[in-house]
Amino acid sequence: MFLQTVLLLLRAEGLHSCPQMTWAKFHRTVAEIVSPPGALVLFCGMSIGFEDPEAAQPRTGRAPLGETVTFVER
Ligand SMILES: Cc1cc2nc3c(=O)[nH]c(=O)nc-3n(C[C@H](O)[C@H](O)[C@H](O)COP(=O)(O)O)c2cc1C
Repeated sequence: MFLQTVLLLLRAEGLHSCPQMTWAKFHRTVAEIVSPPGALVLFCGMSIGFEDPEAAQPRTGRAPLGETVTFVER
């Protein structure tokens, strides 16, 4: 949920992102490069930048809101 908040705030600033938890498998290698302070361990990587709309990449579709959310009114 914390990450989702960061992702949404990035969009609000016009930025795009791609979280990747798989980086956590390589936390020792990453630590050799970034030297994290104390007992910090990499939990999740996240690329942040601007999407290249011209890039040839598969685009994941989005389900319509009504497929996953039900608004209950009283
Ligand atoms: C917390 C989190 C961790 C993720 N970790 C990975 C990962 O390790 N490897 C991966 O291929 N995709 C991972 N994803 C999915 C990608 O970030 C991305 O959502 C997916 O490629 C689909 O792109 P889209 O969300 O722009 O449609 C993760 C997503 C979230 C929210």
